[in-house]
Amino acid sequence: MKYPLAFSTWGKEEVEAIQKVIDTDMYTMGKHVKQFEQEFADLFNSPNAVMVNSGSSANLLMLSLLKWKYKLKGDIIVPVVGWATTYFPIALNDFKINFVDVDPNTWNIDVNKIEQAITPNTCAIMPVNLLGNSCDYDAIIKICEKHNLMLIEDNCESMGSKFNGQYTGTFGLAGSFSFFFSHHIQTMEGGMVLCKNKEDADYLRSMRAHGWVRDLPDNSSLYQKTGNAFNDNFIFATPGYNLRPLEMSGAIGSVQLRKWNDIMSTRLENTRHFIDLFSNKPWCRIQKDLGESSWFTFGMVLDGELKGRRAEIIDALDKAGIQNRPLASRNFLHQPVMPNLDYIVSGTMDAADDIHDNGFFVGNGSVSIKDEITLLYETISRFVK
Ligand SMILES: Cc1ncc(COP(=O)(O)O)c(C=O)c1O
Repeated sequence: MKYPLAFSTWGKEEVEAIQKVIDTDMYTMGKHVKQFEQEFADLFNSPNAVMVNSGSSANLLMLSLLKWKYKLKGDIIVPVVGWATTYFPIALNDFKINFVDVDPNTWNIDVNKIEQAITPNTCAIMPVNLLGNSCDYDAIIKICEKHNLMLIEDNCESMGSKFNGQYTGTFGLAGSFSFFFSHHIQTMEGGMVLCKNKEDADYLRSMRAHGWVRDLPDNSSLYQKTGNAFNDNFIFATPGYNLRPLEMSGAIGSVQLRKWNDIMSTRLENTRHFIDLFSNKPWCRIQKDLGESSWFTFGMVLDGELKGRRAEIIDALDKAGIQNRPLASRNFLHQPVMPNLDYIVSGTMDAADDIHDNGFFVGNGSVSIKDEITLLYETISRFVK
């Protein structure tokens, strides 16, 4: 593979961090996870961070918070291009999924179509910051305030992205992150929820681990500990799961954060080369950056004379050793799982269908890939007359 989809962010420091945990013989969630949570919260200027075993679990916890703590019911507005586990936690928590088309240029939820999608039962909006690109939070927050809707962000692809100088994942009640391989930082499996409110964080911590109160501070409003260890054990205060991260993932996370500035500066250097080559071409559209994207991957939608020719282009990329994928969930309405889900659709899905038919992405990462991006350009531009 000349140009793989994903690049490891690890060095010997991560392996040493794992070994240190092994040496203690304590593998389950503990002090390393706690330390990583604190460092992560500090980095993103958020008062609370709760680590879990994946980004999907982070989304599941956020939706369960809306259901169980906030007692919300009804439908939740989402973009129709996202990720499978953006949508499934909505359904699993008995909400209806309310799909809205994306913007043809940013590929994020089309903020001009949100208000017409609101029903008397709409209770929340869950935008997805797609491929590192922030949504338009000025517009979204205005709509949430006007219609009294809760806001949670699926930020699993967009660690480090900003809008008006503020980090994505911190605009709503809560925001999710993923640390799966290929993401900005990598903890084997792993995810995080950032949230504004301490009581929400306690609730998330309880749901993360069986619903018990063990990981809560003594003064939590969920449960006042008595100080008697026996009485305080096996007390279940929320309808929980087991979504705990491993201690090794927490230890790796702390090491990865020390590399954060280098990871981002290399990713952005790669991006400058990608933009130099691919912007303002009549035969493709790259993602329009609304704020300061953290460029998870490099996507494009074929346009002009290349529109409708994706199969040929993908074949050429495969032959050139350039790994590629469809653009995230594509238009999720076309997925075979749909008959299982309770959903509504508002308006047409023209931009999502274009992404579905003409979109794909290739990798970005924390190593310099300028030559690989040039190879990508040469491979595709050969098709242009
Ligand atoms: C938008 C989005 N949400 C959620 C997830 C799930 O994250 P994880 O793979 O850590 O479960 C992903 C994964 O890439 C994603 O892209």
